[in-house]
Amino acid sequence: MTDDTPTDTDADADAPGVDPEHRARTRADGGTAAGADDVTLDPWGSSTIADYRKLFEEFGIEEFDELIESVPNPHYLMRRGVIFGHRDYGPVAEALRNDEPAAVLSGFMPTGDPHIGHKLVFDEIIWHQQQGADAYGLIADLEAHAARGLTWAEIDEHARDYLLSLLALGFDPEEGTLYRQSGNREVQDLAFELGSKARFAEFEGIYGFDSETSVSHMQSVVTQMADILYPQMDEPKPTVIPVGPDQDPHVRLARDLAARMRFFKVTEAYFSQELDDDERALVAEAHEHLVARAGAEQDVRCIHGAQYLVDPDAVTLDADRPTVDVPELDDSVRASAVKKLQNAGMEPLRPRVRFLDRNASDDAFEDLVERIEGEKRRYDEHVDAFDLSPEDAEELAREVEVDNGGYGFQMPSSIYHRFMTGLTGGKMSSSIPASHISLLDDPEDGYAKVKSATTGGRDTAEKQRELGGEADKCPVYELYAYLLSGDDDEFAKRVYDECVGGERLCGDCKEQAAVLMKEFLEEHQEKRAEVEAALDDLDIELESPRRRVAGEGDD
Ligand code: TRP
Ligand code: SF4
Repeated sequence: MTDDTPTDTDADADAPGVDPEHRARTRADGGTAAGADDVTLDPWGSSTIADYRKLFEEFGIEEFDELIESVPNPHYLMRRGVIFGHRDYGPVAEALRNDEPAAVLSGFMPTGDPHIGHKLVFDEIIWHQQQGADAYGLIADLEAHAARGLTWAEIDEHARDYLLSLLALGFDPEEGTLYRQSGNREVQDLAFELGSKARFAEFEGIYGFDSETSVSHMQSVVTQMADILYPQMDEPKPTVIPVGPDQDPHVRLARDLAARMRFFKVTEAYFSQELDDDERALVAEAHEHLVARAGAEQDVRCIHGAQYLVDPDAVTLDADRPTVDVPELDDSVRASAVKKLQNAGMEPLRPRVRFLDRNASDDAFEDLVERIEGEKRRYDEHVDAFDLSPEDAEELAREVEVDNGGYGFQMPSSIYHRFMTGLTGGKMSSSIPASHISLLDDPEDGYAKVKSATTGGRDTAEKQRELGGEADKCPVYELYAYLLSGDDDEFAKRVYDECVGGERLCGDCKEQAAVLMKEFLEEHQEKRAEVEAALDDLDIELESPRRRVAGEGDD
């Protein structure tokens, strides 16, 4: 294998609990095809990622390490870099820290047996629940039917197994919520509502849907959007969606739709026209300098701002001669900012927060105007407030929305875990039984699968002693790091160090892992048996009343 794992070493330095060197090394890159440089995120495609770094650069996923210190009692999957990325997880971490409302939700397509890859997500949900979040687990049966073509009989059988494993691993059904998409009327109503904010052209762009895509498949997308926002039906709260990075397109769309549902959009403005972020930065700079120069805010006009952006030294601040020659500026942001300022002419240049009316009723808009404290100016489609901070404005907008019958959704957050490498090398796939370990596997079979797994070992014991093993490319080591070591960082580190130090040989190492796997499966399956009764108590339909037909899987 070539080295395709230049891990993000320098970002690891401050991770709590584990020494930085070890952190870097406990990362496996998912057994990926070296050299493959195409990254696409396809929720219904194959779940491999050639290069995790590209996810940061190309898709704007952020590195989990950068905020791990703000997470209370980080889970071992976080500490070991298995959870490698996130979108906007900060508000969730903050809520957990401060014992404020937060939620976690993830969904499972019941297309086969739950396996050790799903266990990562089960653990993530359960950990958030234990940290105080409202926890939700759902069976994506509509999606399995529409996108994968499973019959309802197949779906029912697998749904039960996912729920049992989630309960067996510690999900508390008294505190949390479990549901099937097909059985949740509120989710379907919300899906319908969200669908009114989504357009087909977007689905084409995001998912590659085309004229062959079934309508039910599209419906399963808006259903997932509703799943993601479901924890906020009663009140807005930070919500995290733990998933694999293949689900990121869904997360991005859900964030967009959450914003589109809002009554008001809050922006920062300086005069009547809307500015984009880059223009605003320029105008802010001009404003700051001009106020300092004029000594009094009221003397600064838009035209001065235009002058300043053309030539800072030529500003006269003379209200009687407010002309400016705008040369052809090649920098387009500057040029457009100047143009807007120039059009606004003698309008005062003053910072303010702006509430744009997006979906508000007249009553809600009135209510908002009334509740803005301090100086305000009202227009047809927006209202400007001069004495509010952007944060206070956000809060007010949300309060007014909720008080007037809206949802006030916060944009959902996500965390992303690495995919496990298949035991046979390559990807872990439900269709290749030897590549993965099902949570339902006979413990002896689990033992045997580990024993015959590929390793990062050298050709001979001598070489192994001399060079050390390649734990970073070893699916067996991954089992230790992702599952078998549990919370014991010391143990994971010892296995790693012994391997790369040449003290550990693959035969013994696999034997140890195989035994641990067998014990894990035995214990898990015992727990599954124990929670059977709890499953029957759940308010969830285990047998779908639907007819036993297959959906039309369109991939
Ligand atoms: N699409 C997800 C999958 O393949 C399942 C899913 C449905 C889901 N709704 C969700 C995941 C909501 C996270 C959140 O497997
Ligand atoms: Fe993998 Fe263990 Fe062999 Fe190292 S010693 S390469 S961890 S099987």
